[in-house]
Amino acid sequence: MTWNVFFAYLVLLSLISHTRGAPAADVSSSVAGRTIPLRRRGPPSDLDVYQRGQIAKYQRDSVLARYSGGQRPSRRSTGDNLLVDQSYDSGYYGSLAIGTPSVSFDVFLDTGSSDLWVAGTSCGSVCNGIPVYDPSISSSFKNTSQPFHVTYAQGEASGYIATETIEMAGFSVFNQGFAVVNDMSSGFLSTPTSGLLGLAWEPLASTQEMPLWQTLASSGAWDFPLFAVQLTRYTNDTQAQPLEPGGVLNMGYTNGSLFTGSIEYIDMTSQPTFWQVPLTSVTVQGVSIPIGTNVAAAIDTGTSNIGAPSDVIKAIYEQIPNSKAASGSWAGYYQFPCSTSVTVTFSFGGSTWAMAPADFSYTTIGSQQCIGTFFESSQSNPSWILGDSFLKNVYTVFRYDPPAVGFAALSEVAIAENGINGAAVPSATIGSATAAVTGNAASTTLQFAPAWIGLSLLFSFLHTSLV
Ligand SMILES: *[C@@H]1O[C@H](CO)[C@@H](O)[C@H](O)[C@H]1NC(C)=O
Ligand SMILES: *[C@@H]1O[C@H](CO)[C@@H](O)[C@H](O)[C@H]1NC(C)=O
Ligand SMILES: *[C@@H]1O[C@H](CO)[C@@H](O)[C@H](O)[C@H]1NC(C)=O
Repeated sequence: MTWNVFFAYLVLLSLISHTRGAPAADVSSSVAGRTIPLRRRGPPSDLDVYQRGQIAKYQRDSVLARYSGGQRPSRRSTGDNLLVDQSYDSGYYGSLAIGTPSVSFDVFLDTGSSDLWVAGTSCGSVCNGIPVYDPSISSSFKNTSQPFHVTYAQGEASGYIATETIEMAGFSVFNQGFAVVNDMSSGFLSTPTSGLLGLAWEPLASTQEMPLWQTLASSGAWDFPLFAVQLTRYTNDTQAQPLEPGGVLNMGYTNGSLFTGSIEYIDMTSQPTFWQVPLTSVTVQGVSIPIGTNVAAAIDTGTSNIGAPSDVIKAIYEQIPNSKAASGSWAGYYQFPCSTSVTVTFSFGGSTWAMAPADFSYTTIGSQQCIGTFFESSQSNPSWILGDSFLKNVYTVFRYDPPAVGFAALSEVAIAENGINGAAVPSATIGSATAAVTGNAASTTLQFAPAWIGLSLLFSFLHTSLV
């Protein structure tokens, strides 16, 4: 998840030697003081009884949604949420609104975790400068009084679990479980973001609440049971500002203007937790890299870089003359001559998807040396994490039913949205065609709901952080 945020923090503040200990997570690993974005839970085979129960429930719900006409909302819809690219592709956030009356918040989109949380008024000095959620002014706030604690590889957040009315991209979900955070590792968030929207599957949720997207997909609120993401590239734009237009999150449909050709769907081979698909081949400069068999890759908008086993990383850089393992705070990464244009491709059994050379270079160190985007994540599970460096190159679809990840080639229209200088940073787009469902319950009700939220509030955050 906030690997990218953490990174932006490191880079921007030049805290190059800053070290954060590996957390007491179920799975964790540390490469020379730089922790790897492992998630809390083990592989699907480690699912406990609760998780298996959740999957059984998901399967039942989706069958009901498909076959029981009376259970699904009579009116379905689609929605869009315009994203912001923060710190030269380090992180992508969107907006949602919480409470009654609703107040908007910026949250990182993270397809690598499953909790929605925002900082609350009870948060101490670690939240200074962060817009916080105030439960005392919301009539729809309900406290479950259950403690919340989530541990990511690069930090922690804790607070309590509540339910609220959450609006996003024109949808309202009543009684949606989420967490109000009152403590977190310092540097975890910075203005204007107030929290994180987990877009992976329920079994990964620390709150044990069904994620917002899954509530919408399983209730049949969407025209199609999927969401899709287009992410912009500003990393190689020397005029780029810290906040730039970041692309879009499409909910309930795919926008045919943003891709060409067909969408290649890769079915998820295990019970869904992460958005995890089999990776079948990788090439560097046209040369095939031995990656082994039964390789799983997590498709993770919340990670800026690409994690892979260390032997694979070594093989990748063997194709790049004068590259070498980086040291010190960059241990786990490699450096290479910036003058080398490196093209990497990925295949999931069908089409081959190329990553732009601009995305291979993560940052520069010294005058001629660049740090590549690949980092060693041997001990994580899945061992491959395909983050934004790759995802900027494709239109990515996250399909609920049947569970799959889809990739399509970006259209000229989408490509033209990269690196536009002077472009206005999008304001919150909550949408106008609002469909509403009730979370955490088998029954779903559809109603019309007001679609307008505190956009001016968001504007002021954006302006503040641009100054
Ligand atoms: C919600 O419950 C938790 C746990 O009892 C408590 O610490 C917190 O203050 C409560 N929040 C509000 C707004 O009442
Ligand atoms: C699809 O994407 C294009 C390009 O960003 C945008 O102009 C258009 O409004 C989008 N269409 C819908 C239905 O969202
Ligand atoms: C940035 O990288 C993309 C992809 O390689 C390329 O098409 C574009 O021209 C580059 N932009 C600049 C300003 O170099």
